Amino acid sequence: MILCANFKANKTRQETRAYMAVVESFVSVNEIEDTIIVFPPFTALEHIPRNVLIGVQNAYPAQNGAYTGEIALEQLEEFDVKTILIGHSERRHILGETQEQIAAKFRFFAEQDFAIVYCVGEPLAVREQGDEALMRYIDAQCEGIDLGYPDLILAYEPVWAIGTGLTPTNEQIEVVHAALRFKTTAPLLYGGSVKVDNAGEIMALQNVDGVLVGSASLSAHDFCEMIAQAAELNTDIGV
Ligand code: 13P
Repeated sequence: MILCANFKANKTRQETRAYMAVVESFVSVNEIEDTIIVFPPFTALEHIPRNVLIGVQNAYPAQNGAYTGEIALEQLEEFDVKTILIGHSERRHILGETQEQIAAKFRFFAEQDFAIVYCVGEPLAVREQGDEALMRYIDAQCEGIDLGYPDLILAYEPVWAIGTGLTPTNEQIEVVHAALRFKTTAPLLYGGSVKVDNAGEIMALQNVDGVLVGSASLSAHDFCEMIAQAAELNTDIGV
């Protein structure tokens, strides 16, 4: 399983330090073999060896340059960051990133051999038009994206389920993930109001290889509990 914690614009450097201490110790004491990725804010990046991966929530697709307010490859290299989140719905809808910009970012970081967690997902109005419209929308979000990229992790995050407490039914998740499975062999994550109460159930679904967690990942205790649920699933299937 792959479990990702997306902090968004939450937590200070000090809070992230305390959080990482709890998660790293949990991973080591419990000999966790699942892939754990934490996406803190840029200000909390540190160049220290860890037993979990650290990724960034965004970066500008350039080595460096005149991109006011952005950080680029040179700054990520300083922290040995090789994992990035691209296409998150908040960057699409709040920051106004276009599919063209997102695809350019994907190409740049793929050329740099980054592990890329690429996000897709539909707004409620599209979901209400049915499965066909939904898959057309997701297809458009895959335009210009190499779904055969070896270091790709694809995350399905319905916009209407992000930060709302609403989640699709298990069957709705399985329908979308089955369709995504036809498009790529990459691991498939589900994201959108994942919490301790539903993580185990969601990770046990067909074609779900992990979760991308926002609000509920802000508690180190809750995130560790979800990691424990994943470890339990591995035991169940004899891994
Ligand atoms: P929530 O878990 O807060 O719904 O956020 C999901 C998300 O956007 C993770 O990237």
